[in-house]
Amino acid sequence: MVSLCSLPSFFLSFALVLLSLFSNFIDAQAQDYDYPNATLSTRWTNNAMASHSHRFVDESIAQTILLRRNEFFHLAYTCGFYCNGNCNSYLFAIFIIQLNDNGLVAENGIPQVVWSANRNNPVKINSTLELTSEGDFVLKDADGTVAWSTNTSTKSVVGLNLTDLGNLVLFDEDNATVWQSFDHPTDSLVPGQKLRQRQKLMASVSETNRTFDGLISLSVNDNVLFAQMETNPTQIYFEYDAPNLHDEYVDFGGGSLSFGQASYTQYMKLGSDGHLRVYEFTYSNGWKEVADVFKGYLSDYAYPIVCGQYGIYSDGQCSCPTLSGRESYFKLVNNRQPNLGCSENVPLSCEASKHQSLLELKYITYFSLTPDLVDIDASSCKEACTKNCSCKAAIFQYESNRTSGRCYLPTQVFSLMNISEKTFSYNSTAYLKVQNVRRNHCLLVILGSSLGALFIMAIFIIAIVLFVQRRDNNQAKEDYLDRVLRMSNRFKYSDLKTITGEFGKKLGEGGFGSVFEGTLSDGTKVAVKRLDGFGQVNKSFLAEVKTIGSIHHVNLVRLVGFCAEKSHRLLVYEYMSNGSLDRWIFHKSNECVLNWQQRKNIILDIAKGLNYLHEDCRQKIIHLDIKPQNILLDGNFNAKVADFGLSKLIDKDQSHVVTTMKGTPGYLAPEWLRAAITEKVDVYSFGVVILEIVCGRKIFDRSLDEEGRDLLSIFTRKAEEERLLDIVDKSSDGMQLNGPQVVDMMRIAAWCLQGDYTKRPSMSTVIKVLEGIVEVPEDLDYNFSAQASIGGAARFGRMDVEFSATAALLPSVLSGPR
Ligand SMILES: *[C@@H]1O[C@H](CO)[C@@H](O)[C@H](O)[C@H]1NC(C)=O
Ligand SMILES: *[C@@H]1O[C@H](CO)[C@@H](O)[C@H](O)[C@H]1NC(C)=O
Ligand SMILES: *[C@@H]1O[C@H](CO)[C@@H](O)[C@H](O)[C@H]1NC(C)=O
Ligand SMILES: *[C@@H]1O[C@H](CO)[C@@H](O)[C@H](O)[C@H]1NC(C)=O
Ligand SMILES: *[C@@H]1O[C@H](CO)[C@@H](O)[C@H](O)[C@H]1NC(C)=O
Ligand SMILES: *[C@@H]1O[C@H](CO)[C@@H](O)[C@H](O)[C@H]1NC(C)=O
Ligand SMILES: *[C@@H]1O[C@H](CO)[C@@H](O)[C@H](O)[C@H]1NC(C)=O
Ligand SMILES: *[C@@H]1O[C@H](CO)[C@@H](O)[C@H](O)[C@H]1NC(C)=O
Ligand SMILES: *[C@@H]1O[C@H](CO)[C@@H](O)[C@H](O)[C@H]1NC(C)=O
Ligand SMILES: *[C@@H]1O[C@H](CO)[C@@H](O)[C@H](O)[C@H]1NC(C)=O
Repeated sequence: MVSLCSLPSFFLSFALVLLSLFSNFIDAQAQDYDYPNATLSTRWTNNAMASHSHRFVDESIAQTILLRRNEFFHLAYTCGFYCNGNCNSYLFAIFIIQLNDNGLVAENGIPQVVWSANRNNPVKINSTLELTSEGDFVLKDADGTVAWSTNTSTKSVVGLNLTDLGNLVLFDEDNATVWQSFDHPTDSLVPGQKLRQRQKLMASVSETNRTFDGLISLSVNDNVLFAQMETNPTQIYFEYDAPNLHDEYVDFGGGSLSFGQASYTQYMKLGSDGHLRVYEFTYSNGWKEVADVFKGYLSDYAYPIVCGQYGIYSDGQCSCPTLSGRESYFKLVNNRQPNLGCSENVPLSCEASKHQSLLELKYITYFSLTPDLVDIDASSCKEACTKNCSCKAAIFQYESNRTSGRCYLPTQVFSLMNISEKTFSYNSTAYLKVQNVRRNHCLLVILGSSLGALFIMAIFIIAIVLFVQRRDNNQAKEDYLDRVLRMSNRFKYSDLKTITGEFGKKLGEGGFGSVFEGTLSDGTKVAVKRLDGFGQVNKSFLAEVKTIGSIHHVNLVRLVGFCAEKSHRLLVYEYMSNGSLDRWIFHKSNECVLNWQQRKNIILDIAKGLNYLHEDCRQKIIHLDIKPQNILLDGNFNAKVADFGLSKLIDKDQSHVVTTMKGTPGYLAPEWLRAAITEKVDVYSFGVVILEIVCGRKIFDRSLDEEGRDLLSIFTRKAEEERLLDIVDKSSDGMQLNGPQVVDMMRIAAWCLQGDYTKRPSMSTVIKVLEGIVEVPEDLDYNFSAQASIGGAARFGRMDVEFSATAALLPSVLSGPR
């Protein structure tokens, strides 16, 4: 055996060089297990047999390359080759793995993939990952083709680091970041990572197939967050533009989306079903979903693929479009899983567009928030689809009481929704393009008949094409304008000045601005609300107004139009001749007193309006400021809820004083002090309003002696003494005569006022109680005296809201009259 010492020195040094090179290339097996960083010229081979390969309970296999542990949380961020399922295709991914008590990888935990390099381009066994000597980080498939690369060979990279936050960083001599995985998000965000302008989260195809991009994306543009289907053109299903998204998890501001108070043990993922969810790890329970971020805003059916392509959603069920007595054009993709959608029995073919027709489905609406055409009639909408081969359906939604409406022309049809059972005030019909079976070959016969005919036809076609193109150009310009303005009823400031007679007749004034009476050119009266303290026109204002404007319900005050010009922001509402409810119940004027029947109707009207906002409209709306001043009455004392959506609108302008205060003291639910704000805060305020209507006084009346000021504590006391009739409004005889009914109404109020918001009924339940279908439970807690609503500090999302007891006594300063 030759001793190393006996070798010539040049050989020795050569051997050492060789040895060091070899050790660099040797692969992960030789490395210390939890290296969080790597130097140049390091290569790893994807080898399922490698010692750092793990098989987890969910059948996934992961070969870790770099690993950064957090013993405290029993978690580690790691990157490496990952596969799930049949394991023919691997990703180079960053995933979070669980550690057991000994700090070893716990294979009974499920790895959570939070990033991957080569989605859409998976690799096989024997693929290699290399940090080249030039500083390029390259993933090559087993056959040597490049699957992915950072393209950093010219950027003086000196090393690779997996940070504590799970960011994979290529850095240079100055430790400056040259490339980082945080800049290339896939479908997830980890705490500390931000989704910036023009970046996108793309959901995967399905929860089991994470190796390919799906159709749903989340992006940020001009401070508006968009969730949309990546069809061409895209179809938006969620749009949001306030600084707070939901709960404590995400903070949306400064053009980026980040975790607010998220902890190390959470991450957020855009699911293939369109939901944005937050997952959290606990040592005892593993990974669990802890939040569904859009939940407060979107109803189940408002997600685009809840029923797949062509699927129709009715009351939680998915089905295919059919028309009784006709041949069926669609079938379920999978009979066992209707939510996977439907496929056409005969695929649409542009060549045979002559044999296409539109299948009419009444009372069907569509998820998309952006109509392709506005203010047109149904037949033009249908025609636009018939003419355009890439159009797959025309969905037409009437504006209420008008023959014109909005037209959707999707190129791929996703979940449709059956609204025939709903009490929507809008009406919508879907026309699906279907291919009829061809019965003859007319076309061939005609074409084949003579060359001359063909020639003439060709000339005709060219002429028509030229003509259509020119017309389309004009059409496109108009469409563009429509899209920019979105709503057809945008007013000029000068027009509004005329309409209101230079803002001559003021109807009221409040924190949001003043309200003026106006008369449109056709004689219709309107109420014009002038909002104070706004900056430049921005897209979010338009988007918000568009949302509010698209909401129609008989118990909601209708937004007729708006104006956004320079710093002017005005909203034009339908005029309500009897003004706000407070005028009628607090006996300010000596006008007639409402009788019991009228009061009952008003309560039911408010309940219906709120129910619509909470449960029936596409984007769930929490009013946040229900009080008699925001309930308006028409000539027949029908009540409508006003100012919905406004708290969001006002929220835009952070500099405005009123933004720090949402809602009105006295009407604020106790959970404002804690965190979760749900639609139940409106239920609470609604309870207060019922009490005020029934008792004919304010919830907090400073003009009374100390004992009588606070209606809630009196309510508690009288309920204990079983003398509720004592506090009923005495100015109307009918109230005492209908004693038992009035007391029942007060029990509904008590139910709505429950301190624990989960115990309060939903508005749909309230309606059922009012209609006598459901009973108020017996075990109500009448101790409302927590009095959370006066003084203290409240929270909304992450924004701390503070107000003092003095503010509580002057509610009118803080909120508008309507
Ligand atoms: C790489 O990791 C090792 C071990 O944790 C550490 O000692 C070293 O400083 C790291 N190098 C860089 C450049 O971060
Ligand atoms: C991977 O490479 C090894 C050694 O070169 C070879 O034995 C093995 O068959 C390869 N595996 C696959 C799946 O190609
Ligand atoms: C690197 O360059 C190739 C070819 O120019 C390109 O296809 C690839 O997307 C680039 N990779 C990254 C991560 O930018
Ligand atoms: C690597 O990441 C760790 C943890 O985040 C950090 O402390 C360290 O400074 C990083 N090293 C370089 C060279 O960036
Ligand atoms: C880069 O980071 C490493 C480890 O974090 C540290 O030892 C080194 O001094 C840093 N170099 C520079 C130039 O900052
Ligand atoms: C994953 O989805 C892609 C794209 O739809 C498809 O081509 C591929 O076959 C799927 N893979 C598996 C394992 O289902
Ligand atoms: C057909 O519809 C698609 C999608 O809406 C649109 O992009 C295209 O411009 C339309 N073509 C014509 C000729 O109108
Ligand atoms: C719609 O039309 C009906 C009957 O024509 C009318 O009674 C109702 O007031 C109208 N509704 C609105 C909101 O204009
Ligand atoms: C919508 O629902 C109603 C009632 O459930 C049903 O009669 C109707 O056929 C449905 N429409 C479609 C197109 O599925
Ligand atoms: C809704 O539209 C359908 C057809 O377009 C029509 O037959 C029906 O009367 C409309 N219903 C309402 C309530 O307007």
